[in-house]
Amino acid sequence: MVQLHYLNYINGEWVGDGFNKVKVVNPATGEYIGSVPNADEEHAKQAIEAASQALPEWSKKSAADRGDVLRKYFDLIMEHEDEIAEVMTKENGKPLKESKGEVQYAASFIEWYAEEGKRIYGRTVPGKRENHRIKVMKQPVGVVAAITPWNFPAAMITRKLGPALSAGCTLIVKPPEETPLTCMKLAKLAEEAGIPKGVFNVVNGNPEKFSETVMSDMRVRKLTFTGSTPVGKLLIKQSAEQVMKLSLELGGHAPVIVCDDADLDKTIEMLMAAKFRNSGQTCIAANRVYAQSSIYDELVRRMTAEVEKLNVGNGLEDGIDVGPLINKEGFEKAGRHVEDAQEKGARVTTGGEGQADTDKGTYFYKPTILADANYDMVIMNEETFGPILPIAKYDHDDEAVKAANDTPFGLAAYFFTQNVSRGTRISEGLEYGIIGWNDGIPSAAQAPFGGMKQSGLGREGGQEGIEEYLEVKYVSLSI
Ligand code: SIN
Repeated sequence: MVQLHYLNYINGEWVGDGFNKVKVVNPATGEYIGSVPNADEEHAKQAIEAASQALPEWSKKSAADRGDVLRKYFDLIMEHEDEIAEVMTKENGKPLKESKGEVQYAASFIEWYAEEGKRIYGRTVPGKRENHRIKVMKQPVGVVAAITPWNFPAAMITRKLGPALSAGCTLIVKPPEETPLTCMKLAKLAEEAGIPKGVFNVVNGNPEKFSETVMSDMRVRKLTFTGSTPVGKLLIKQSAEQVMKLSLELGGHAPVIVCDDADLDKTIEMLMAAKFRNSGQTCIAANRVYAQSSIYDELVRRMTAEVEKLNVGNGLEDGIDVGPLINKEGFEKAGRHVEDAQEKGARVTTGGEGQADTDKGTYFYKPTILADANYDMVIMNEETFGPILPIAKYDHDDEAVKAANDTPFGLAAYFFTQNVSRGTRISEGLEYGIIGWNDGIPSAAQAPFGGMKQSGLGREGGQEGIEEYLEVKYVSLSI
């Protein structure tokens, strides 16, 4: 098997030979598939220097010129869709068809923001006296550092890179240790697309060292992070020293309300996508279902039948729907959630067990439905990040909305009803940043993805996504 060994990408050069390696392993087979350097603070500092040097020229370019480079980058990513998808499946484990979907999703952020930079508008405001004008303008934030997760090895990078570069910022990315190879493929293509040196840099290795270095350097003006809520809280504390700007996309615990008038065929199709995409390892994964009493039994029965059709295995093989979990911790958590739920009265209608090979380091968990779920179960309160779906019963919509909101998280929520008045009330009552109404796949480049409460700060995607990379300045002018 061909192994992939990459160096860091700093100032348009490939550096870091001789450093200890971060070894990348296929979570479906345990095979060693490649490596990247385990860089020290020096590399982060070099990247900060490169991004600072590149900033004046890149930020002065017209939005149209930056857009042209991004458009070329988009075309190259799409030309290499199959190759990137294969690497992604090997390092993350998600089925190849999902990896291809992710490459397209990742590329869509580059395509969309290649255009959106042209719409960064300021405004002129009437002054407070005669011959006084106020001009409001927007300028790039400056050098941005990004820390990205393993669950979406490409899209969580481009969702930051697209708006940052389009706004005129320069970027340093720290990809995850589990899945850095997809990022390195993206860096190679950035070089080919003609993204100028220093505008996009990649530093691999330890995330703590990286965040300490970028957070203590005044030249870095913003940190954008996708990952867990505990790490997000630490970054908030670290950012205090410099009052650094932050965008944080953190954990979730998505509720799903299924009303008695829902179109169940559509609900099941959407629920399957919302739960089992990426083996349930997404921040917006359906984590708990509240089904109205009169359709509860039918939903449990039909979801069970649907889940039984899923094939679990190596995502590179044909016909696989659900890949492995990324690591032992994820596998053990899935097992704990199921055991706890069973102790508290849940009924496993399908799944409920995993298969671990600790020698190889591979961890598969069977897609699972837990019927008769109740509010005391850990799974109804803690993010699972695995292919397990608990289903509870409810009677009145108010009760379901209250239970849905009873969490520190506020990223994504879903509900299913054919009734517009009822749906409007539910959507207005849910304290979540992303709401799927008869929709289990709400993510899109043009939509402002992000959460309320402990699910994060800021938005990624859409018009709001580029604002995160802009400073507002006004000129008070006496004429
Ligand atoms: C995430 O899990 O953080 C991202 C999911 C998505 O963009 O759909």
